Amino acid sequence: MANDNTELTYLQQQQRTRHQIEEGIISAFAPEDEALRNALTSARAAGLPEIQISPIQGKLLQLLAAACNARNILEIGALGGYSGIWLARALPTGGRLITLEINLEHAAIVRNSFEKAGISDRAEVRVGKALDLLPHLQSEAPFDLVFIDADKPPYPQYLQWALRLTRPGSIIVADNCIRGGKAFLPPQDEAMAGIVELNRRIASDPRLVSLLLAMDDDYTDGFAIAVVKH
Ligand code: SAH
Ligand code: DHB
Ligand code: MG
Repeated sequence: MANDNTELTYLQQQQRTRHQIEEGIISAFAPEDEALRNALTSARAAGLPEIQISPIQGKLLQLLAAACNARNILEIGALGGYSGIWLARALPTGGRLITLEINLEHAAIVRNSFEKAGISDRAEVRVGKALDLLPHLQSEAPFDLVFIDADKPPYPQYLQWALRLTRPGSIIVADNCIRGGKAFLPPQDEAMAGIVELNRRIASDPRLVSLLLAMDDDYTDGFAIAVVKH
């Protein structure tokens, strides 16, 4: 009993520490402004699921965009436009973000949030099933950065399209590739099957240098990140 209490106190302390670290990083490196907060508020008011990336992930996307000199960015899965705002803000003058979204109501909120964030001149939502829209993007390729964050079963196909639509030096990022460790177990559903297969391919493709980074949900989920080699 005494031991259980000691362990509980220790775990609570550890969680508080992790939370403080996260808050410290966010306030120093990835603070949200009015436009980002507005995107979240509008999405919540419309009843959208709160499954957007974290501020730290948003800043990492910006860092990766800077690292590959991104002028042309593709996102698969827009939700309420939160990650899109982070991405569009990493673009230089004349840069473009295309974000693909299947849900018309989500797309309407995205357009509104982009408008309020002042990025409508460079950020565009295309409505439809990503697998139907992707073949039409070949004339607008190459993309310097591709962010995959839509439905999980077709993750391997999204990776395949990302490889077709990028260039050497481009960066490909996929969200939710750890899933509390489920990504390392035999998949129990279609969603996990998609994630497991994307991880297998992104780790072993000779054209890529890649890594999984646990950085979300108390370090139990996160990005798969790959650079297309020269
Ligand atoms: N990137 C967003 C979160 C995306 S959530 C952010 O971090 O802010 C996933 C989104 O993908 C949802 O809005 C969902 O409607 C959309 N989606 C699901 N299946 C899709 C498909 N087949 N094609 C395009 N979008 C899809
Ligand atoms: C889910 C999807 C996401 O893209 C995410 O970041 C978190 C959760 C989901 O479908 O549950
Ligand atoms: Mg996600």
